[in-house]
Amino acid sequence: MATITQTILQQQSVLDAPHKLYPTVTSLSLSESQLDSDSASDKSDSLPEIPLPPPSKAPTEVLSVDKDTPDNHVPRDPRLIRLTGVHPFNVEPPLTMLFNEGFLTSPELFYVRNHGPVPQVSDEDIPTWEISIEGLVENPIVLDFKQILQEFDQITAPVTLVCAGNRRKEQNQVRKSKGFSWGAAGVSTALFTGPMMRDVIKRANPSRKAKYVCMEGADKLPNGYYGTSVKLNWVMDPNRGIMLAHKMNGEDLRPDHGRPLRAVVPGQIGGRSVKWLKRLIVTDKPSDNWYHIYDNRVLPTTVTPEQSAKESKWWYDERYAIYDLNVNSAAAYPQHNEELNLSTADPIYTARGYAYGGGGRRINRVEISLDKGKSWRLATIEYPEDKYRDFESDLFGGKVDMFWRETCFCWCFWNLEIPVEDLKDSDAILVRAMDEALNCQPRDMYWSVLGMMNNPWFRVAIIRDGDVLKFEHPTQPALMPGGWMERAKKAGGDLTNGRWGEVSNNEDSFSSNEKAVEEISMKKEGLNKRIDITELKAHISPQEPWFVINGEVYDGTKFLEGHPGGAQSIISAAGMDVSEEFLAIHSETAKAMMPDYHIGTLDRESQELLQKESENQSSSETPDEIYLQPKVWKKAELCAKRSISWDTRIFTFKLEYDLQTLGLPTGQHLMIKLKNASTSESIIRAYTPISETNQKGTLDILIKIYFPTETSKGGKMTAALDKMQIGDFVDIKGPIGKLIYRGNGRVILNDKERFVKSFRMICGGSGITPIYQVLRGVMSNPNDSTECTVLDGNRLEEDILCREELDSFASMADRRCTILHTLTKPSNDWKGLRGRISEDLLKEYATPNEDSLALICGPEGMESVAKKTLLKLGWNENDLVFF
Ligand code: MTE
Repeated sequence: MATITQTILQQQSVLDAPHKLYPTVTSLSLSESQLDSDSASDKSDSLPEIPLPPPSKAPTEVLSVDKDTPDNHVPRDPRLIRLTGVHPFNVEPPLTMLFNEGFLTSPELFYVRNHGPVPQVSDEDIPTWEISIEGLVENPIVLDFKQILQEFDQITAPVTLVCAGNRRKEQNQVRKSKGFSWGAAGVSTALFTGPMMRDVIKRANPSRKAKYVCMEGADKLPNGYYGTSVKLNWVMDPNRGIMLAHKMNGEDLRPDHGRPLRAVVPGQIGGRSVKWLKRLIVTDKPSDNWYHIYDNRVLPTTVTPEQSAKESKWWYDERYAIYDLNVNSAAAYPQHNEELNLSTADPIYTARGYAYGGGGRRINRVEISLDKGKSWRLATIEYPEDKYRDFESDLFGGKVDMFWRETCFCWCFWNLEIPVEDLKDSDAILVRAMDEALNCQPRDMYWSVLGMMNNPWFRVAIIRDGDVLKFEHPTQPALMPGGWMERAKKAGGDLTNGRWGEVSNNEDSFSSNEKAVEEISMKKEGLNKRIDITELKAHISPQEPWFVINGEVYDGTKFLEGHPGGAQSIISAAGMDVSEEFLAIHSETAKAMMPDYHIGTLDRESQELLQKESENQSSSETPDEIYLQPKVWKKAELCAKRSISWDTRIFTFKLEYDLQTLGLPTGQHLMIKLKNASTSESIIRAYTPISETNQKGTLDILIKIYFPTETSKGGKMTAALDKMQIGDFVDIKGPIGKLIYRGNGRVILNDKERFVKSFRMICGGSGITPIYQVLRGVMSNPNDSTECTVLDGNRLEEDILCREELDSFASMADRRCTILHTLTKPSNDWKGLRGRISEDLLKEYATPNEDSLALICGPEGMESVAKKTLLKLGWNENDLVFF
């Protein structure tokens, strides 16, 4: 069947081929295509290849969901994802499906944004469809559809339309905006055909005062007809390519896309491309249409939804209206929930996606990071739009007139070959694009009331499960569940913490979880028992230790054996109020376990007595023979600070007197407490000194400073320590820990003695310090025949801590110890092991032997991989000691 435009144009020399003759390939030379009867005749041999529309089949059926809506006359494709229930029709295609169609999108999969019902326009109505050009013009006119077709030069151009809400679901995850949840497929591209808007406007001859072109559609909405405006000088500038369109990919416009006539404003948000166009009103002010004022704006991030509802000034400030699109990109591959099996995958994975910019600016780079934005790799970019620049011919009844135009109005495609080895070691693929004006996608989201123009780096999370990598996009559109943002939020993560809501492996994990932590109840429901100080003090024996947190009494007896920090730390807490250190040290999981041990509430008077008691204890005047006291925080003065690398320092603290020893058994740790000067909050962390256990008068602690980076706030404790001046004090208490090494293979583990023949010591980064202490305990005694293997993981060679000491142990003639360093970012001439502490490495160096014990200390991720793998290798859980 002939299209409406063909019927109208049948007298014309420029004929359109019927749609069914269009090729079903995405790219071919026009000589084969017979697309246009005029042009096919003589120029065919020299015509270059251009991308053509993908196979398309116009839906013919009205879907049952639409039958009871005002759109009961619009056939649609059921594959589209509805974002606002059934009606109005706002949809995006599944991202992979959209991407797989290639450069041009079929009209049935093209995203749709309708504010209300689709105007019903029958074939018969089209020739007489009128638009008026009015306002500040010398010659107001009304043109009918036939005139639009016949009296103006027709052009055909590829244009990408993007809804300003594209990727809004990410904003809604952070804080609900006033908009519905688009995924990353609110973007589509078509070849649009029609006259330039400037030619039509010129016919009406705008007056000298004219500055804006307001547009109005035929869709009647609760607040009037849909309308908006753009600047008149943009319309008149051929570079900006603003046009009226009656065809999309060579077919008459479909009802959802503005049939029979719409504006197409390239490089600007889709909201400016008014569909079902009825009026062009030339004015000296921007449109006062309700939808121009209250839609398509990015208000300052400080304006809350409530404020925006109360204060209309925000909406009337033209500075906050959005026109040019901002730079954006997304990954289509890996797809959401795609899995990559490491044992069968090709060694190279090609990541792919799209990018677009605004205002005709070319995307000049797309970069990918696998290490949270510390380093970037340059992706390859394809610009299919450029193919049309050399194509000087007619297409679908319009002239492709792009050879002179330098603007980019279409999306481009990026791809990057990534070694699977690198993906394996990464927690996320980050994508960012930059345009020729060097506008670059930001790392952080700019949240605003309408949630528009969301364009932070696109992040595909990588979750490793054994041999399988699973990829997760940030969100899924509409109410569809899934995505790392939802997951991070559910886990109590703060999506604005600069680390994508993930709780980091380093010590700063508390900050992002503070809110969630407060919400966890540690009380047993329904328990209503009063306990006084006499009863509490009757339970301070190591067999039955009761302790107090936030005025509540807990009985630690049942947990003495299972406590990851060892029984001693519970025993040391007996009869005391340990709120401060408990809350500072324990995870949410630990807190959630507390109701099981809750036995009652300490009465107020007893709470005060306990408080006084602890104040007296910490100000005790007479020094003890050994410094560390399990129940008392003691002051220690910083007397020296030595940098041993850019991020590592050795802090030396003075004990109470020169001949005093620390009193820390090998294998145990101490706690350091510091007050954050600005928040008065206590920060407490466990450390293992590197000084010899019998050193007198001082103790040395090796500390790696976690500096803030672009993606992490840095470590709270280490930053505070780094700021300390000589003469400043910290509080120290201890010992704590579940393991003591007595020498000659004799170990006290959870208060039980056992003998070991070998240690497998697995550590990462500063996790070496407790390991080193035990290793030194073995190696400093020539008669100790316990065999030690240390597997030490780091990033760079210079990150290896205690290297000299470790290597000197390894070079001792008796060969009792083996030291293996593995690096994730080795230099080319690194001779040691490469990669993370993986299953393969553990298999090779950490299989269980008779009477062996594994000591593990490192970042959370490393520890959990180690645990899983060691258990798989046949280790007994009781033989794994996590420091
Ligand atoms: N024009 C009218 N008349 N009514 C509308 O609701 N929506 C706008 C714009 N033009 C709209 C309109 C918005 S917000 C967008 S993003 C684009 O149309 C979407 O165009 P599409 O539905 O063809 O993809």
